[in-house]
Amino acid sequence: MSDVTSSRIEGFHKMSPEARLQAVARQAGLDNEAVAGLADAASGQIDLADRLIENAISSMAIPVGIATNITVDGRDVLVPMATEESSVIAAVCNSAKRCRSTGGFRTSTSGPVMAAQIQLLGADDPENVRMKVLERIGDIRTICDATDPLLVKFGGGFRDLDIRVIGTPEGPMTVVHIIVDTRDAMGANAVNSMAEALAPKLEEWTGARSLLRILTNLADRRLARVRAVWPVDEIGGDRVRDDMLSAYHFADSDPYRAATHNKGIMNGISAVVLATGNDTRAIEAGAHAFTVRDGRYRSMTRWEKDGDGNLVGILEMPMAVGLIGGATKIHPTAQANLKILGVTTADELARIIVSVGLAQNFGAMRALATTGIQKGHMALHAQNVAMMVGAAGPEIDRVAEELKARGMVRQDVAEEILARLRADG
Ligand code: MEV
Repeated sequence: MSDVTSSRIEGFHKMSPEARLQAVARQAGLDNEAVAGLADAASGQIDLADRLIENAISSMAIPVGIATNITVDGRDVLVPMATEESSVIAAVCNSAKRCRSTGGFRTSTSGPVMAAQIQLLGADDPENVRMKVLERIGDIRTICDATDPLLVKFGGGFRDLDIRVIGTPEGPMTVVHIIVDTRDAMGANAVNSMAEALAPKLEEWTGARSLLRILTNLADRRLARVRAVWPVDEIGGDRVRDDMLSAYHFADSDPYRAATHNKGIMNGISAVVLATGNDTRAIEAGAHAFTVRDGRYRSMTRWEKDGDGNLVGILEMPMAVGLIGGATKIHPTAQANLKILGVTTADELARIIVSVGLAQNFGAMRALATTGIQKGHMALHAQNVAMMVGAAGPEIDRVAEELKARGMVRQDVAEEILARLRADG
């Protein structure tokens, strides 16, 4: 527990970020060094932070690195990735290099289509309610499109209805899905506004009561798909390929392994999603829900051997990312990262993101099926451990080198090495 004296801070949200920081420092007993660190971390960014979230006091920099060697649909791209985890970017670069000779990543998408749900309650006749709503599709289109004329101007807008009657512990419920083409927007604001505008009309037409009105992150009409072929020579031979397939079958058959396997895929996916100012949690929620859609949690990827003995990898998942709105538009780093990517549509971005996810999975499976992942992790991890025990400047490399040489990348050993270095001057 922290030393906070009270969690009440009168008028906190109305204060400037600097005043908030001082108030928190007082109440949490922060020393000057900690306060200076938080202030420095936000330097040049605090106004942006204050606009993006409530009660901002600082911001937290996540490293942005570039994944190289990636070819998507015949176009080479440099891919910014925001991640705090070592080895993630190296794995993508390495995996992408190994499939360049077969053309890199080939992709397809299902279009930028999102859905919002409106929950209808209190009707004894949910099937009848369903039909009454379907009969109003023309009016529904008019209401939804009037909510976002700009979206309609850019070629998007209401597309269709999907109405489901679901069983729940309190009986059947009718759930109205409005299906909307959101173009280059992620679309949450557009579909949520439409759902809220439509709900009172649905009540009027059906006599049911509307409750929740919100998008679904299971964006299964907004799929991005990628396929790549790794020549057996680039993998390290038949044995490594077959072991990678066994690694895949393990993940696809065991949720305990699938969770970790898929976490690795999301290491790549979330890093590009974050670097472009998109909503990592929306993508993660959609990815996991889509994976378990047939009732079994399994691998997000599919792997098989082709007729020439090469390894074919496939990833298909919801990819609700946008180029307009939210942090994507107002965060200068996100804007610069989009320039590096050279994308002009959300669709292009989605294709690149799934390519990175597939590359990440190839890299993790290959490492795990051969040397294990610790070898690759150790170089940067040793530096992290050195910093953890207080090494600074040139001390970091010296401590890290000795940790690796002794084959013991541990905090207690790092402390001992650092103490000795300092004693030796
Ligand atoms: C580590 O962040 C990700 C891996 O655990 C993924 C995997 O096990 O496939 C290496």
